[in-house]
Amino acid sequence: MNVYDSQRMSDTLGRLGYMPVDDPDKADLVLLNTCHIREKAAEKVYSEIGRLKQARERRRAVGADMLIGVAGCVAQAEGEEIVTRAPAVDLVFGPQSYHRLPDFLARAQAGETVVETDFPVEDKFAALEAPSERNVRARGVSAFLTIQEGCDKFCTFCVVPYTRGAEFSRPAAEIVAEARRLADAGVRELTLLGQNVNAYHGEGPDGGEWGLARLLYELAEVDGIARLRYTTSHPRDMDDDLIAAHRDISALMPYLHLPVQSGSDRMLAMMNRRHDRGLYFDLVARLRDARPDIALSSDFIVGFPGETDADFAETMDLVRQVGFAQAFSFKYSARPGTPAATMDRRVPEAVQAGRLAELQALLRTQQADFAAGLEGRTFDVLFEKVGRQPGQVVGRSPWLQPVIVDAPEALIGSLESVRITKAGSNSLFADLVSDVSRLPGHDGGSSYRAESFA
Ligand code: 5AD
Ligand code: SF4
Repeated sequence: MNVYDSQRMSDTLGRLGYMPVDDPDKADLVLLNTCHIREKAAEKVYSEIGRLKQARERRRAVGADMLIGVAGCVAQAEGEEIVTRAPAVDLVFGPQSYHRLPDFLARAQAGETVVETDFPVEDKFAALEAPSERNVRARGVSAFLTIQEGCDKFCTFCVVPYTRGAEFSRPAAEIVAEARRLADAGVRELTLLGQNVNAYHGEGPDGGEWGLARLLYELAEVDGIARLRYTTSHPRDMDDDLIAAHRDISALMPYLHLPVQSGSDRMLAMMNRRHDRGLYFDLVARLRDARPDIALSSDFIVGFPGETDADFAETMDLVRQVGFAQAFSFKYSARPGTPAATMDRRVPEAVQAGRLAELQALLRTQQADFAAGLEGRTFDVLFEKVGRQPGQVVGRSPWLQPVIVDAPEALIGSLESVRITKAGSNSLFADLVSDVSRLPGHDGGSSYRAESFA
């Protein structure tokens, strides 16, 4: 979501006359868009500010200057504290107010230190102007689209309900209009974003309320959109309609990121996850029934306060039973202001590290087995960019793996059938199966139209 937010901020900056540069030494303005989810992410901000301060001094030495801003969830959570700890910072603003960037910048340029961490009442997305044609084109073939923000679940370890605020769903018509603009600029794949994306309940164009399933059916009809994904989901919000959408919508990719965090019912209760392992197993079974080729990805936290060896064994058992194609796993990190931060029976760092290594070894094996299972299989790949070696193009499998193929660059932006020849550690290698003789430069190429093989 920070990537999407940064793109929207750069749209605004573009209209104010700013251009992107590749080196802070050339920048009049640097905004750090920050993450507060774990301590490590939050701490990085301060070392980064230190580096920017030096870049600013080099610029001042030659008569130029630089404004330094901190945006995102660290800004939201720490506010004034950032300026106290790092007086070099000129602007601090949270993720709910970046539509007010032009005003913040004008004030900072006039010498004010701007700190804005209120949650404004207006709809940020409605207040933002549509991105320029050039900026939309820069998104490429696959784009993010935020449809929902914030969270009302209050898992005891998590800062999101405090930093991103209460759940908010954008109206469906606004989302569909943004999807059309992206598709018109060449986007073929949309990833719908939200901290709790499947809790989406936006206003429909008919005045009624739309759930995520209803929205997906609508977006699948947008001309040019060939693939749909959504992330991140909560198990409690996987309703029957959404599971049915996985069966009915062929554009909806057979890949779902469904965080479970732990396999221990005792830990899930302490985490206030509002689901147990039984519910997770049941969902996985129903999803696989609806869409047999669906692959799952998840998030895990090890070493939550009070986690015993027996609890951790339950997590390992869940992973073995489900089988994941991909996963993210973390040591528990105490976050200020969250209920878990004051729980006792903290798990020693060394125990956390041991459990994380054990879990990651299992998840890595499952990921490699999943990739190896695709060798010899034929499926569609959406080509996104040129590869590192001349003559290569890189696309994505339905399960998000990079797929490297020797093929013409003109295939970027199109979906083509490939046969997997080899599974590498992070990507797949494949041969093109599609007949590409229709491409420009090949015989009969002039009738090439992307739509014809969506
Ligand atoms: N400590 C460790 N991991 C966390 N996550 C969220 N909060 C914490 C925390 N305090 C992880 C969860 C979540 C992912 C985005 O980050 O696994 O799903
Ligand atoms: Fe955080 Fe996700 Fe729990 Fe919401 S559902 S509190 S975003 S972990």
